[in-house]
Amino acid sequence: MELKGKTAVITGISKGIGEAVSKQLLDKGCYVFGLGRNAGSIQHPNFHFISCNIRNSADVANAFIQIYAKIEEVHIMINNAGLGYFGNLEDMPEHEWDEMFQTNVNGIFYCCKAVLPQMKKSAYGHIINIASTAALEGMPMVSAYCATKWAVKGLSESLFREVRSFGIKVTCVYPGSTKTDFFRNSPGIKPHDYMLMPEDVALTMVQALEMPDNFHTVNLEIRPLQPKGPGK
Ligand SMILES: NC(=O)c1ccc[n+]([C@@H]2O[C@H](COP(=O)([O-])OP(=O)(O)OC[C@H]3O[C@@H](n4cnc5c(N)ncnc54)[C@H](OP(=O)(O)O)[C@@H]3O)[C@@H](O)[C@H]2O)c1
Repeated sequence: MELKGKTAVITGISKGIGEAVSKQLLDKGCYVFGLGRNAGSIQHPNFHFISCNIRNSADVANAFIQIYAKIEEVHIMINNAGLGYFGNLEDMPEHEWDEMFQTNVNGIFYCCKAVLPQMKKSAYGHIINIASTAALEGMPMVSAYCATKWAVKGLSESLFREVRSFGIKVTCVYPGSTKTDFFRNSPGIKPHDYMLMPEDVALTMVQALEMPDNFHTVNLEIRPLQPKGPGK
């Protein structure tokens, strides 16, 4: 896809991976609608923030009413917003389980539901869902977060087969540990410089978006090369 002049909707743009991919798409000449609870710091004439808690279906529906009042076609939908809580499953408060599923899974459902009818009509579009390497293997103390991201994997691989004949691409991204605020709820892990950088994850998405129209990247697994430092 030639990115210049295309419209992207990105969830969770206040920081981390969502902020990084927003900036890279703006640099490529895209118009970006950023959906989130906090606006963050992006200042760009082609960036439009829409206040939206993606856990709330009415919020998401209202955000897309605002978007389609301004433009006719969304070409790119990046479902990025998400969070993790960690620990023994039996100790996890129900509200943390609910918040993770509502954000990491329901949010993607609401956004896909909002954008797919128009993408089908346009016979064109690219949806990118951010899962995690936690969607590829089980991890102790990460069972609830893993469950949400396995759901993202299942949704993405099924949706890809559901909408490819309409000219719509679906890519699922599986990043390893990335240096963002994501680890604020993790007592054991602190972000460090041998992790992926949010810009690295953003770059792989931009490259996937730039692929020719006749094929697409279904799954993108990316990991830091030396997560414990050089030679370790
Ligand atoms: N960092 C990692 O190691 C890693 C690895 C694999 C996958 N991931 C995934 O990558 C995605 C981005 O995470 P990140 O690392 O960039 O973490 P981050 O720095 O904590 O950013 C998360 C973003 O999601 C937004 N968000 C959270 N809940 C939201 C809600 N209910 N409504 C709207 N926006 C919401 C946050 O906005 P506000 O809090 O400002 O509202 C923030 O902008 C997540 O899906 C995460 O699971 C991260």
